[in-house]
Amino acid sequence: MRNTMLKVQPISGALGAEIAGVDLGAELSDATIAEIRQALLDHLVIFFRDQDLPPARFLALARHFGTPIEYPFVKGIEGFPEIINVAKLEHETVNFGGVWHADTTYLQAPPMATLLVAREVPDAGGDTLFANQYLAYETLSEKLRSLLAEMRGVSSSAKADASRTREDRIRSDGSAEARKLLVAEHPAVRTHPKTGRKALYVNRAHTVSFAGMTEEESAPLLEFLFRHQIRPEFTCRFRWTPGALAIWDNRCAQHYAVNDYAGHRRIMQRITLAGDVPA
Ligand code: SIN
Repeated sequence: MRNTMLKVQPISGALGAEIAGVDLGAELSDATIAEIRQALLDHLVIFFRDQDLPPARFLALARHFGTPIEYPFVKGIEGFPEIINVAKLEHETVNFGGVWHADTTYLQAPPMATLLVAREVPDAGGDTLFANQYLAYETLSEKLRSLLAEMRGVSSSAKADASRTREDRIRSDGSAEARKLLVAEHPAVRTHPKTGRKALYVNRAHTVSFAGMTEEESAPLLEFLFRHQIRPEFTCRFRWTPGALAIWDNRCAQHYAVNDYAGHRRIMQRITLAGDVPA
């Protein structure tokens, strides 16, 4: 396949676009990379089908968009510390990422974006949902938006719903730091450094409280926000096929891996890209 003009087709009214007309394993021109970057800013998550991206090419592709970093709890695959296996095997019951989240918000500088490539997928099931956090923010009342402007969310790596989703992978590929507790505080609403738009930045998987408030005091408002931020009209759903690739922007989108393929295996590989401190 030769690189040609990209064809960008939105997959829902809220976010997400499928891009055709590019072979991501080939040399990419600066113009093509710029177009893909712009599509990511415009659509928050972008998808490509039928890509031939063995690990070295996958990593080379990721480097066009940022600096790959290591995931703190799971070791990378042989020879590629920045690439982790996101797998669920036939006998496993819990899937990695099966709670709404933006990636690793318990880091001081959470990753700006993530690339996920499908290696093996079930015949049916194992889709990923995404939710637009600009829309989540913009649809709150003015009063709540001004209240949230003053608030910071505390993220912890130990929140039970999320930590149990990585247990199988820690058992198979856990890093030396796999049991470390990581905690970070970020604005509840962050401004995207490239688009200048504001996005809601709390998430069910990792946010445990608001800074200066107890978990019990924080819970009612957090629970409202967790429900609000994933309303169906803010979401899209991607059906994976082998060789499909997603790139999402963690600064303005959340995602959720659907666990509906009991008895089947799903093997993906993931790279996260260094981000800045949310402001
Ligand atoms: C993740 O949360 O990074 C994994 C998403 C998926 O497997 O669909």
